[in-house]
Amino acid sequence: MKIGISAPSMPRSGAIVAGVLDGGELGATAQRLDKATNGAIQRGIKASRFNGAAGQTLSLVAPAGVRASRIVLAGLGKPEKFDDLAAQSFGGAIVALLEKSGEKTVMVAADPVKGSKLKPAEIAANMAYGALLRSYSFDKYRTTLKPNEKRSLQTVTVTTPNDADARKLYQPMTKIADGVFMTRDLVSEPANVIYPESLAAQAQSLAKLGVTVQVLGRAQMEKLGMGALLGVAQGSAREPKMAIMRWNGAPKARDKRPVAFVGKGVTFDTGGISIKPAAGMEDMKWDMGGSGVVIGLMKALAGRKAKVNVVGVVGLVENMPSSTAQRPGDVVTSMSGQTVEVINTDAEGRLVLGDALWYCQEKFKPKTMVDLATLTGAIIVALGHEHAGVFSNDDELAGRLDSAGKSVGEAVWRMPLGEAYDKQINSDIADMKNVGGRDAGSITAAQFLQRYIKKGVAWAHIDIAGVTWSKTETPTVPKGGTAFGVRLLDRMVRDHYEEG
Ligand code: BES
Ligand code: MN
Ligand code: ZN
Repeated sequence: MKIGISAPSMPRSGAIVAGVLDGGELGATAQRLDKATNGAIQRGIKASRFNGAAGQTLSLVAPAGVRASRIVLAGLGKPEKFDDLAAQSFGGAIVALLEKSGEKTVMVAADPVKGSKLKPAEIAANMAYGALLRSYSFDKYRTTLKPNEKRSLQTVTVTTPNDADARKLYQPMTKIADGVFMTRDLVSEPANVIYPESLAAQAQSLAKLGVTVQVLGRAQMEKLGMGALLGVAQGSAREPKMAIMRWNGAPKARDKRPVAFVGKGVTFDTGGISIKPAAGMEDMKWDMGGSGVVIGLMKALAGRKAKVNVVGVVGLVENMPSSTAQRPGDVVTSMSGQTVEVINTDAEGRLVLGDALWYCQEKFKPKTMVDLATLTGAIIVALGHEHAGVFSNDDELAGRLDSAGKSVGEAVWRMPLGEAYDKQINSDIADMKNVGGRDAGSITAAQFLQRYIKKGVAWAHIDIAGVTWSKTETPTVPKGGTAFGVRLLDRMVRDHYEEG
Protein backbone atom coordinates (compact mmCIF):
# COMPACT_ATOMS: atom_id res chain seq x y z
CA MET A 1 0.00 0.00 0.00
CA LYS A 2 1.29 3.44 -0.90
CA ILE A 3 0.65 6.21 1.58
CA GLY A 4 1.38 9.81 0.65
CA ILE A 5 0.55 13.45 1.29
CA SER A 6 -0.38 15.97 -1.38
CA ALA A 7 -2.24 19.22 -2.02
CA PRO A 8 -6.05 19.09 -2.04
CA SER A 9 -7.99 18.24 -5.18
CA MET A 10 -11.29 16.55 -5.93
CA PRO A 11 -10.71 12.89 -6.78
CA ARG A 12 -12.04 11.71 -10.14
CA SER A 13 -12.39 8.17 -8.86
CA GLY A 14 -11.98 6.16 -5.69
CA ALA A 15 -13.09 7.06 -2.20
CA ILE A 16 -12.91 10.41 -0.47
CA VAL A 17 -12.84 10.75 3.30
CA ALA A 18 -14.06 13.86 5.08
CA GLY A 19 -13.99 14.57 8.79
CA VAL A 20 -17.01 15.44 10.93
CA LEU A 21 -16.74 16.73 14.51
CA ASP A 22 -18.50 15.14 17.43
CA GLY A 23 -22.02 16.55 17.38
CA GLY A 24 -22.21 16.47 13.60
CA GLU A 25 -20.45 19.70 12.63
CA LEU A 26 -19.08 19.18 9.14
CA GLY A 27 -15.44 19.90 8.35
CA ALA A 28 -14.60 22.05 5.32
CA THR A 29 -14.46 19.14 2.88
CA ALA A 30 -17.65 17.55 4.21
CA GLN A 31 -19.41 20.89 3.70
CA ARG A 32 -18.19 21.07 0.13
CA LEU A 33 -19.30 17.50 -0.53
CA ASP A 34 -22.69 18.23 1.00
CA LYS A 35 -23.20 21.04 -1.54
CA ALA A 36 -21.93 18.95 -4.45
CA THR A 37 -24.26 16.08 -3.56
CA ASN A 38 -27.25 18.30 -3.01
CA GLY A 39 -27.39 17.65 0.74
CA ALA A 40 -26.75 13.91 0.73
CA ILE A 41 -24.25 14.26 3.58
CA GLN A 42 -26.68 15.94 5.97
CA ARG A 43 -29.44 13.53 4.93
CA GLY A 44 -27.12 10.59 5.52
CA ILE A 45 -26.20 11.82 8.99
CA LYS A 46 -29.90 12.32 9.84
CA ALA A 47 -30.78 8.85 8.59
CA SER A 48 -28.07 7.13 10.66
CA ARG A 49 -26.54 7.03 14.10
CA PHE A 50 -23.35 8.65 12.86
CA ASN A 51 -22.65 11.79 14.86
CA GLY A 52 -18.93 12.38 14.36
CA ALA A 53 -17.73 10.57 17.48
CA ALA A 54 -14.14 9.35 17.25
CA GLY A 55 -13.93 6.02 15.44
CA GLN A 56 -17.32 6.26 13.72
CA THR A 57 -17.68 6.17 9.96
CA LEU A 58 -20.54 6.49 7.51
CA SER A 59 -20.17 5.45 3.88
CA LEU A 60 -22.18 6.85 0.99
CA VAL A 61 -21.54 4.61 -1.99
CA ALA A 62 -21.83 5.96 -5.56
CA PRO A 63 -23.28 9.34 -4.53
CA ALA A 64 -24.71 11.57 -7.22
CA GLY A 65 -22.97 14.89 -7.89
CA VAL A 66 -19.36 13.81 -7.41
CA ARG A 67 -17.06 11.54 -9.38
CA ALA A 68 -15.75 9.72 -6.30
CA SER A 69 -17.04 6.16 -5.99
CA ARG A 70 -17.76 6.65 -2.32
CA ILE A 71 -17.80 9.32 0.31
CA VAL A 72 -16.72 8.26 3.78
CA LEU A 73 -17.62 10.53 6.66
CA ALA A 74 -15.32 9.84 9.56
CA GLY A 75 -15.65 11.02 13.13
CA LEU A 76 -12.97 13.37 14.43
CA GLY A 77 -14.42 13.29 17.94
CA LYS A 78 -14.20 16.32 20.22
CA PRO A 79 -11.76 18.95 18.91
CA GLU A 80 -9.99 19.39 22.25
CA LYS A 81 -9.30 15.66 22.29
CA PHE A 82 -8.07 15.56 18.72
CA ASP A 83 -4.34 15.01 19.33
CA ASP A 84 -1.65 13.15 17.42
CA LEU A 85 -2.84 9.73 18.62
CA ALA A 86 -6.42 10.59 17.63
CA ALA A 87 -5.27 11.66 14.18
CA GLN A 88 -3.29 8.42 13.84
CA SER A 89 -6.34 6.40 14.85
CA PHE A 90 -8.41 8.33 12.31
CA GLY A 91 -5.98 7.42 9.52
CA GLY A 92 -5.73 3.82 10.67
CA ALA A 93 -9.50 3.41 10.88
CA ILE A 94 -9.82 4.50 7.24
CA VAL A 95 -7.42 1.80 6.10
CA ALA A 96 -9.22 -0.80 8.23
CA LEU A 97 -12.56 0.23 6.72
CA LEU A 98 -11.49 0.33 3.09
CA GLU A 99 -8.66 -2.16 2.69
CA LYS A 100 -10.95 -4.92 1.46
CA SER A 101 -13.83 -2.73 0.29
CA GLY A 102 -13.09 -2.95 -3.42
CA GLU A 103 -11.74 0.59 -3.48
CA LYS A 104 -8.24 0.93 -4.89
CA THR A 105 -7.55 4.52 -3.92
CA VAL A 106 -8.67 6.84 -1.18
CA MET A 107 -8.14 10.52 -0.65
CA VAL A 108 -8.31 11.63 2.97
CA ALA A 109 -9.01 15.33 3.44
CA ALA A 110 -7.05 16.56 6.46
CA ASP A 111 -9.07 19.69 7.14
CA PRO A 112 -8.02 21.99 9.97
CA VAL A 113 -9.76 21.12 13.24
CA LYS A 114 -10.77 24.25 15.17
CA GLY A 115 -10.00 23.85 18.87
CA SER A 116 -7.39 21.10 18.40
CA LYS A 117 -3.78 21.47 19.56
CA LEU A 118 -2.65 20.15 16.20
CA LYS A 119 -1.61 22.37 13.33
CA PRO A 120 -2.98 21.40 9.91
CA ALA A 121 0.34 19.88 8.78
CA GLU A 122 0.49 17.82 11.99
CA ILE A 123 -3.02 16.54 11.42
CA ALA A 124 -2.13 15.38 7.92
CA ALA A 125 1.18 13.81 8.93
CA ASN A 126 -0.38 11.88 11.81
CA MET A 127 -3.29 10.70 9.70
CA ALA A 128 -0.84 9.39 7.14
CA TYR A 129 1.28 7.77 9.87
CA GLY A 130 -1.76 6.03 11.35
CA ALA A 131 -2.79 4.78 7.93
CA LEU A 132 0.74 3.53 7.34
CA LEU A 133 0.93 1.70 10.69
CA ARG A 134 -2.40 0.04 10.00
CA SER A 135 -1.51 -0.92 6.42
CA TYR A 136 0.87 -3.62 7.65
CA SER A 137 -0.01 -7.21 6.87
CA PHE A 138 1.87 -10.46 7.03
CA ASP A 139 0.51 -12.65 4.28
CA LYS A 140 3.57 -13.97 2.50
CA TYR A 141 2.56 -17.56 3.30
CA ARG A 142 -0.99 -17.22 1.99
CA THR A 143 -1.17 -18.55 -1.54
CA THR A 144 -4.85 -19.40 -1.97
CA LEU A 145 -6.68 -16.17 -1.13
CA LYS A 146 -9.77 -15.70 -3.29
CA PRO A 147 -9.94 -12.38 -5.16
CA ASN A 148 -12.57 -10.95 -2.81
CA GLU A 149 -10.48 -11.89 0.23
CA LYS A 150 -7.49 -9.97 -1.06
CA ARG A 151 -6.86 -6.39 -0.16
CA SER A 152 -8.06 -3.94 -2.79
CA LEU A 153 -6.71 -0.69 -1.38
CA GLN A 154 -3.45 0.36 -3.01
CA THR A 155 -3.10 4.08 -2.44
CA VAL A 156 -3.93 6.40 0.43
CA THR A 157 -3.40 10.11 -0.20
CA VAL A 158 -3.83 12.52 2.67
CA THR A 159 -4.50 16.01 1.39
CA THR A 160 -3.68 19.35 2.98
CA PRO A 161 -2.80 22.82 1.70
CA ASN A 162 0.33 22.58 3.88
CA ASP A 163 1.46 19.46 2.09
CA ALA A 164 5.16 20.33 2.01
CA ASP A 165 5.26 20.91 5.79
CA ALA A 166 3.24 17.76 6.38
CA ARG A 167 5.61 15.67 4.26
CA LYS A 168 8.54 16.97 6.29
CA LEU A 169 6.87 15.84 9.51
CA TYR A 170 5.84 12.54 7.96
CA GLN A 171 9.28 11.56 6.67
CA PRO A 172 10.79 10.44 10.03
CA MET A 173 7.50 8.74 10.89
CA THR A 174 7.97 6.48 7.88
CA LYS A 175 11.36 5.49 9.29
CA ILE A 176 9.80 4.56 12.62
CA ALA A 177 7.20 2.55 10.72
CA ASP A 178 10.03 0.77 8.86
CA GLY A 179 11.35 -0.34 12.25
CA VAL A 180 7.88 -1.34 13.44
CA PHE A 181 7.30 -3.39 10.30
CA MET A 182 10.62 -5.15 10.59
CA THR A 183 9.80 -6.12 14.18
CA ARG A 184 6.31 -7.29 13.19
CA ASP A 185 7.82 -9.40 10.40
CA LEU A 186 10.41 -10.97 12.70
CA VAL A 187 7.84 -11.79 15.36
CA SER A 188 5.40 -13.24 12.82
CA GLU A 189 7.91 -15.49 11.08
CA PRO A 190 7.82 -19.10 12.27
CA ALA A 191 10.72 -20.67 14.12
CA ASN A 192 11.80 -22.76 11.14
CA VAL A 193 12.59 -19.49 9.37
CA ILE A 194 13.76 -17.29 12.25
CA TYR A 195 16.34 -19.07 14.41
CA PRO A 196 19.46 -17.65 16.06
CA GLU A 197 21.57 -17.58 12.92
CA SER A 198 18.89 -16.16 10.64
CA LEU A 199 17.84 -13.60 13.25
CA ALA A 200 21.45 -12.52 13.61
CA ALA A 201 21.55 -12.12 9.83
CA GLN A 202 18.51 -9.83 10.10
CA ALA A 203 20.40 -7.72 12.62
CA GLN A 204 23.33 -7.69 10.24
CA SER A 205 21.13 -6.31 7.48
CA LEU A 206 21.03 -2.99 9.37
CA ALA A 207 24.63 -2.40 8.27
CA LYS A 208 23.26 -0.83 5.10
CA LEU A 209 21.74 1.94 7.25
CA GLY A 210 25.09 2.67 8.88
CA VAL A 211 24.63 0.46 11.94
CA THR A 212 27.79 -1.35 13.02
CA VAL A 213 26.91 -4.98 13.61
CA GLN A 214 28.96 -7.70 15.22
CA VAL A 215 27.80 -11.28 15.72
CA LEU A 216 29.27 -13.63 18.32
CA GLY A 217 29.02 -17.39 17.85
CA ARG A 218 29.24 -20.25 20.32
CA ALA A 219 33.03 -20.33 20.48
CA GLN A 220 33.30 -16.64 21.26
CA MET A 221 30.58 -16.83 23.88
CA GLU A 222 32.31 -19.80 25.48
CA LYS A 223 35.48 -17.77 25.68
CA LEU A 224 33.59 -14.95 27.36
CA GLY A 225 32.16 -17.39 29.88
CA MET A 226 28.48 -17.00 29.02
CA GLY A 227 27.54 -20.27 30.69
CA ALA A 228 23.97 -19.22 31.45
CA LEU A 229 23.07 -18.38 27.86
CA LEU A 230 24.96 -21.38 26.51
CA GLY A 231 23.23 -23.73 28.93
CA VAL A 232 19.87 -22.76 27.44
CA ALA A 233 21.20 -23.26 23.92
CA GLN A 234 22.84 -26.63 24.48
CA GLY A 235 19.75 -28.70 23.73
CA SER A 236 19.32 -27.20 20.28
CA ALA A 237 20.97 -28.12 17.00
CA ARG A 238 20.92 -24.40 16.17
CA GLU A 239 24.02 -22.50 17.13
CA PRO A 240 23.35 -19.63 19.57
CA LYS A 241 24.34 -16.13 18.55
CA MET A 242 24.66 -12.74 20.10
CA ALA A 243 24.20 -9.76 17.83
CA ILE A 244 25.58 -6.38 18.84
CA MET A 245 24.37 -3.33 16.96
CA ARG A 246 25.79 0.16 17.33
CA TRP A 247 24.37 3.41 16.01
CA ASN A 248 26.60 6.40 16.58
CA GLY A 249 24.38 9.28 15.59
CA ALA A 250 26.06 11.75 17.97
CA PRO A 251 29.79 11.29 17.41
CA LYS A 252 30.58 14.58 19.17
CA ALA A 253 28.53 13.87 22.28
CA ARG A 254 30.32 14.92 25.47
CA ASP A 255 29.00 11.95 27.41
CA LYS A 256 30.49 8.97 25.62
CA ARG A 257 28.34 6.44 27.48
CA PRO A 258 25.64 5.11 25.16
CA VAL A 259 22.05 4.24 25.82
CA ALA A 260 21.73 0.46 25.62
CA PHE A 261 18.86 -1.81 24.68
CA VAL A 262 19.02 -5.52 25.37
CA GLY A 263 16.57 -8.08 24.02
CA LYS A 264 15.57 -11.65 24.83
CA GLY A 265 15.79 -13.62 21.62
CA VAL A 266 14.52 -17.13 22.31
CA THR A 267 13.58 -18.03 18.76
CA PHE A 268 11.48 -20.90 20.05
CA ASP A 269 10.73 -21.79 23.65
CA THR A 270 9.60 -25.38 24.11
CA GLY A 271 10.45 -25.06 27.81
CA GLY A 272 13.33 -27.50 27.35
CA ILE A 273 13.29 -30.55 29.63
CA SER A 274 10.73 -28.69 31.80
CA ILE A 275 8.63 -28.92 28.66
CA LYS A 276 5.55 -26.80 28.05
CA PRO A 277 2.11 -28.28 27.38
CA ALA A 278 1.29 -28.72 23.67
CA ALA A 279 -1.71 -26.37 23.61
CA GLY A 280 -0.61 -22.93 22.53
CA MET A 281 3.05 -23.80 22.29
CA GLU A 282 3.11 -22.38 18.76
CA ASP A 283 2.97 -18.93 20.38
CA MET A 284 6.51 -19.48 21.55
CA LYS A 285 7.77 -18.56 18.09
CA TRP A 286 7.42 -14.99 19.32
CA ASP A 287 9.56 -15.55 22.39
CA MET A 288 12.19 -13.55 20.51
CA GLY A 289 9.93 -10.48 20.72
CA GLY A 290 12.33 -8.50 22.90
CA SER A 291 15.16 -8.95 20.43
CA GLY A 292 12.77 -8.18 17.57
CA VAL A 293 11.98 -4.85 19.21
CA VAL A 294 15.65 -4.02 19.75
CA ILE A 295 16.45 -4.78 16.09
CA GLY A 296 13.44 -2.80 14.83
CA LEU A 297 14.28 0.08 17.16
CA MET A 298 17.84 0.23 15.83
CA LYS A 299 16.39 0.30 12.33
CA ALA A 300 14.07 3.17 13.25
CA LEU A 301 16.81 5.21 14.96
CA ALA A 302 19.30 4.69 12.16
CA GLY A 303 16.62 5.24 9.52
CA ARG A 304 15.72 8.65 10.87
CA LYS A 305 19.36 9.40 11.69
CA ALA A 306 18.69 9.98 15.38
CA LYS A 307 21.37 12.15 17.00
CA VAL A 308 22.18 9.67 19.73
CA ASN A 309 24.66 6.92 20.48
CA VAL A 310 22.89 3.65 21.14
CA VAL A 311 23.81 0.02 21.34
CA GLY A 312 21.51 -2.94 20.92
CA VAL A 313 22.45 -6.37 22.23
CA VAL A 314 20.32 -9.44 21.55
CA GLY A 315 20.89 -12.92 22.95
CA LEU A 316 19.66 -15.48 20.43
CA VAL A 317 19.00 -19.09 21.38
CA GLU A 318 16.51 -21.88 20.84
CA ASN A 319 15.25 -23.67 23.97
CA MET A 320 14.85 -27.35 23.06
CA PRO A 321 14.64 -30.65 24.93
CA SER A 322 17.13 -33.24 23.73
CA SER A 323 19.81 -35.58 25.02
CA THR A 324 22.18 -32.62 25.15
CA ALA A 325 19.73 -30.25 26.85
CA GLN A 326 20.42 -28.90 30.30
CA ARG A 327 18.60 -30.65 33.15
CA PRO A 328 16.67 -29.23 36.07
CA GLY A 329 19.18 -28.96 38.87
CA ASP A 330 22.15 -28.18 36.65
CA VAL A 331 24.37 -25.38 37.89
CA VAL A 332 25.77 -22.94 35.32
CA THR A 333 28.27 -20.12 35.67
CA SER A 334 27.32 -16.86 34.04
CA MET A 335 29.74 -14.38 32.51
CA SER A 336 29.42 -12.26 35.66
CA GLY A 337 30.88 -15.14 37.65
CA GLN A 338 27.63 -15.70 39.53
CA THR A 339 26.39 -19.29 39.55
CA VAL A 340 22.81 -20.29 38.88
CA GLU A 341 20.95 -23.44 39.84
CA VAL A 342 18.58 -24.12 36.95
CA ILE A 343 15.49 -25.38 38.75
CA ASN A 344 13.23 -24.99 35.73
CA THR A 345 14.59 -25.04 32.19
CA ASP A 346 11.52 -23.07 31.08
CA ALA A 347 12.72 -20.01 32.98
CA GLU A 348 15.32 -19.58 30.25
CA GLY A 349 14.86 -15.95 29.23
CA ARG A 350 16.47 -14.62 32.40
CA LEU A 351 19.47 -16.92 31.85
CA VAL A 352 19.96 -15.52 28.37
CA LEU A 353 19.49 -11.94 29.54
CA GLY A 354 21.81 -12.31 32.52
CA ASP A 355 24.72 -12.86 30.18
CA ALA A 356 23.56 -10.33 27.59
CA LEU A 357 23.12 -7.60 30.21
CA TRP A 358 26.49 -8.31 31.75
CA TYR A 359 28.26 -8.34 28.39
CA CYS A 360 26.60 -5.08 27.43
CA GLN A 361 27.77 -3.32 30.60
CA GLU A 362 31.31 -4.72 30.46
CA LYS A 363 31.73 -3.76 26.85
CA PHE A 364 29.89 -0.46 26.54
CA LYS A 365 29.56 1.07 30.03
CA PRO A 366 26.08 2.39 29.26
CA LYS A 367 24.56 5.17 31.38
CA THR A 368 21.10 3.80 30.77
CA MET A 369 20.11 0.27 29.87
CA VAL A 370 16.64 -0.99 29.02
CA ASP A 371 15.90 -4.64 28.39
CA LEU A 372 12.81 -6.08 26.75
CA ALA A 373 11.64 -9.65 27.11
CA THR A 374 8.61 -11.87 26.77
CA LEU A 375 9.74 -13.05 30.16
CA THR A 376 6.82 -14.34 32.19
CA GLY A 377 3.29 -15.66 31.88
CA ALA A 378 2.74 -14.07 35.28
CA ILE A 379 2.87 -10.55 33.83
CA ILE A 380 -0.18 -11.50 31.72
CA VAL A 381 -1.97 -12.63 34.87
CA ALA A 382 -1.14 -9.28 36.47
CA LEU A 383 -1.67 -6.80 33.62
CA GLY A 384 -3.42 -8.67 30.82
CA HIS A 385 -2.72 -7.26 27.37
CA GLU A 386 -3.22 -3.58 28.15
CA HIS A 387 0.10 -2.68 29.75
CA ALA A 388 3.62 -3.99 29.62
CA GLY A 389 5.26 -4.36 33.04
CA VAL A 390 8.17 -2.07 33.88
CA PHE A 391 10.70 -2.78 36.61
CA SER A 392 13.38 -0.22 37.31
CA ASN A 393 16.05 0.83 39.76
CA ASP A 394 15.67 4.45 38.66
CA ASP A 395 12.57 6.62 39.15
CA GLU A 396 13.53 9.06 36.42
CA LEU A 397 13.94 6.31 33.83
CA ALA A 398 10.68 4.69 34.90
CA GLY A 399 8.96 8.06 34.53
CA ARG A 400 10.41 8.58 31.07
CA LEU A 401 9.18 5.18 29.95
CA ASP A 402 5.76 5.90 31.37
CA SER A 403 5.37 9.22 29.59
CA ALA A 404 6.82 7.99 26.30
CA GLY A 405 4.39 5.08 26.45
CA LYS A 406 1.48 7.44 26.97
CA SER A 407 2.62 9.63 24.07
CA VAL A 408 2.66 6.79 21.56
CA GLY A 409 -0.18 4.65 22.90
CA GLU A 410 2.04 1.86 24.25
CA ALA A 411 1.17 1.86 27.93
CA VAL A 412 3.45 0.53 30.64
CA TRP A 413 2.75 -0.07 34.31
CA ARG A 414 5.48 0.03 36.92
CA MET A 415 5.85 -3.00 39.16
CA PRO A 416 7.85 -3.19 42.39
CA LEU A 417 11.30 -4.58 43.14
CA GLY A 418 12.56 -5.27 46.63
CA GLU A 419 14.82 -7.24 48.89
CA ALA A 420 12.12 -9.55 50.17
CA TYR A 421 11.37 -10.64 46.62
CA ASP A 422 15.05 -11.03 45.93
CA LYS A 423 15.37 -13.58 48.73
CA GLN A 424 12.95 -15.85 46.88
CA ILE A 425 15.66 -16.68 44.34
CA ASN A 426 18.40 -17.62 46.79
CA SER A 427 19.62 -21.16 46.12
CA ASP A 428 20.81 -23.77 48.59
CA ILE A 429 23.80 -24.75 46.48
CA ALA A 430 24.55 -21.83 44.15
CA ASP A 431 24.42 -18.00 44.16
CA MET A 432 20.84 -18.03 42.93
CA LYS A 433 18.20 -20.22 41.38
CA ASN A 434 16.34 -19.33 38.23
CA VAL A 435 12.81 -19.48 39.69
CA GLY A 436 11.36 -18.09 42.88
CA GLY A 437 8.15 -20.04 43.18
CA ARG A 438 4.68 -19.23 41.92
CA ASP A 439 4.13 -16.04 43.89
CA ALA A 440 5.17 -12.75 42.29
CA GLY A 441 6.60 -14.60 39.28
CA SER A 442 7.25 -11.51 37.18
CA ILE A 443 8.91 -9.71 40.05
CA THR A 444 11.26 -12.54 40.98
CA ALA A 445 12.20 -12.77 37.28
CA ALA A 446 13.07 -9.07 37.38
CA GLN A 447 15.01 -9.57 40.62
CA PHE A 448 17.02 -12.22 38.84
CA LEU A 449 17.92 -9.73 36.10
CA GLN A 450 18.77 -7.05 38.65
CA ARG A 451 21.50 -9.29 40.04
CA TYR A 452 23.32 -8.60 36.77
CA ILE A 453 23.02 -4.81 36.92
CA LYS A 454 26.10 -2.89 37.93
CA LYS A 455 26.07 0.05 40.37
CA GLY A 456 25.41 3.37 38.72
CA VAL A 457 23.56 2.03 35.71
CA ALA A 458 20.00 3.29 35.33
CA TRP A 459 18.21 0.14 34.31
CA ALA A 460 14.69 -0.83 33.37
CA HIS A 461 13.25 -4.18 32.39
CA ILE A 462 10.09 -4.28 30.30
CA ASP A 463 8.17 -7.56 30.42
CA ILE A 464 6.33 -7.57 27.10
CA ALA A 465 4.87 -11.09 27.28
CA GLY A 466 1.31 -9.73 27.27
CA VAL A 467 1.68 -7.14 24.53
CA THR A 468 3.98 -8.61 21.89
CA TRP A 469 1.21 -10.47 20.11
CA SER A 470 -2.38 -9.31 19.83
CA LYS A 471 -5.51 -11.29 19.11
CA THR A 472 -7.50 -8.09 18.67
CA GLU A 473 -6.86 -5.16 16.40
CA THR A 474 -6.67 -1.47 17.18
CA PRO A 475 -6.87 1.33 14.59
CA THR A 476 -3.09 1.41 14.16
CA VAL A 477 -2.11 -2.15 15.10
CA PRO A 478 -3.55 -5.08 13.17
CA LYS A 479 -3.86 -8.48 14.83
CA GLY A 480 -0.61 -10.38 15.28
CA GLY A 481 2.83 -9.00 16.04
CA THR A 482 2.48 -5.54 17.53
CA ALA A 483 6.10 -4.35 17.71
CA PHE A 484 5.17 -2.90 21.11
CA GLY A 485 8.22 -1.06 22.35
CA VAL A 486 9.63 0.26 19.09
CA ARG A 487 7.55 3.41 19.06
CA LEU A 488 7.83 3.82 22.82
CA LEU A 489 11.61 3.62 22.96
CA ASP A 490 12.04 5.67 19.81
CA ARG A 491 9.99 8.38 21.53
CA MET A 492 11.90 8.11 24.78
CA VAL A 493 15.17 8.49 22.89
CA ARG A 494 13.81 11.47 20.99
CA ASP A 495 12.49 13.20 24.11
CA HIS A 496 15.43 12.60 26.46
CA TYR A 497 18.60 11.28 24.86
CA GLU A 498 18.98 13.02 21.53
CA GLU A 499 21.15 16.04 21.01
CA GLY A 500 19.62 19.32 19.92
N1 BES B 1 8.57 -17.30 27.28
C1 BES B 1 7.98 -17.66 28.52
C2 BES B 1 7.02 -16.60 29.05
C3 BES B 1 5.76 -16.39 28.24
C4 BES B 1 4.61 -17.09 28.55
C5 BES B 1 5.73 -15.48 27.22
C6 BES B 1 3.47 -16.87 27.82
C7 BES B 1 4.58 -15.26 26.50
C8 BES B 1 3.44 -15.95 26.80
C9 BES B 1 9.08 -17.87 29.56
O1 BES B 1 10.28 -18.36 29.08
C10 BES B 1 8.55 -18.87 30.53
O2 BES B 1 8.37 -19.98 30.16
N2 BES B 1 8.32 -18.42 31.76
C11 BES B 1 7.81 -19.28 32.76
C12 BES B 1 8.59 -19.04 34.02
C13 BES B 1 8.35 -20.05 35.08
C14 BES B 1 8.93 -21.40 34.67
C15 BES B 1 9.00 -19.56 36.35
C16 BES B 1 6.34 -18.94 32.95
O3 BES B 1 5.98 -17.77 32.84
O4 BES B 1 5.56 -19.86 33.16
MN1 MN C 1 10.32 -20.46 28.98
ZN1 ZN D 1 10.72 -17.94 27.14
